[in-house]
Amino acid sequence: MAEPINVVVTGAAGQIAYSLLYQLAAGSVFGPEQPINLRLLDIPPMMEVLQGVVMELDDLALNLLREVTPTADPAVAFKDAAAAFLVGAMPRKQGMERKDLLSANVKIFKVQGEALDKFARKDVKVLVVGNPANTNALICSHYAPSIPKENFTAMTRLDQNRAQAALAARLSVQVDRVQNVIIWGNHSSTQYPDAHHALVHLPTGAKPVPEAVNDDAWLNGEFVEKIQKRGAAVIAARKMSSAMSAAKAAGDHMRDWWIGTRPGKWVSMGVVSDGSYGIPKDIVFSFPVTIKDHQFKIVQGLPINEFARAKLNATAKELEEERAEANSVLEQ
Ligand code: NAI
Repeated sequence: MAEPINVVVTGAAGQIAYSLLYQLAAGSVFGPEQPINLRLLDIPPMMEVLQGVVMELDDLALNLLREVTPTADPAVAFKDAAAAFLVGAMPRKQGMERKDLLSANVKIFKVQGEALDKFARKDVKVLVVGNPANTNALICSHYAPSIPKENFTAMTRLDQNRAQAALAARLSVQVDRVQNVIIWGNHSSTQYPDAHHALVHLPTGAKPVPEAVNDDAWLNGEFVEKIQKRGAAVIAARKMSSAMSAAKAAGDHMRDWWIGTRPGKWVSMGVVSDGSYGIPKDIVFSFPVTIKDHQFKIVQGLPINEFARAKLNATAKELEEERAEANSVLEQ
């Protein structure tokens, strides 16, 4: 069996981590042959809660799980890390402006970027889940200059999974029959869930989703809005944000990054823009990617119609605004 790898989960006493940790310990992300050491980072007031999580991890009695280290010290958490799930973030409190939230979180991701730079492996794979995820990933990468930019990603996989499930329901097929739906842009309500390049596998063969749905008004209207607002709908019903589905999506994202995508299939990830599709460079933008040997490649050459262009521009503009706000906080 392979040597254990160090896997960091921040926000480890929180609700997403609670669903994520079992997947990691059970081998459903890094594979059944890969033992792991878990480094659990949270803030000092959460250390007692974290002890309870550690007890439960012990009680899972799983072979793949070797050391478990709860800590409030980023230097301890990120030491020799091979993979990091940056879930911990300041939640939005009542009366808090978006800017206040951004300001609190940007500072957290600066500290964690610096710690990754100093202590983690140079090939560490970093997945940012904590919101605003795209801009947090950008800041984190900026403060970890010794680690390649390609090693920092933001999670839009939950949006992709939501979109895939919504299309499968609309077409009355199982969810794995739908592939290659894309999430473009920010993990926010400006994201563009795009089904125009997706395929559905029907008993009669593969068909483009727009042809199978045969209702462009729905695909460009109700479908897009449903995915953009799904997170808010879960909060309204549950009085808490999506946790089980967010944890599953984080596992999906990291597993594909670690193990690779299957031929002909692509997945969406927030990655540092290289200018593909005319998107400004130096923002973390969600693109369709394929992955091989731990490296992703942005899928090139998809036709972008006028409707899509406007959506891509709007979400890119929001990300540029977030970057400017983040920079102004960091300059203070
Ligand atoms: P939660 O509030 O249950 O847990 C967050 C944890 O982070 C808490 O234990 C808190 O103490 C910890 N934390 C705060 N500051 C920290 C720091 N500096 N270092 C380490 N830990 C720290 O929140 P939940 O539900 O687990 O969500 C976590 C984040 O994920 C939120 O920002 C949420 O908005 C985001 N999210 C992102 C999604 C996505 O699709 N990208 C989907 C759902 C949630």
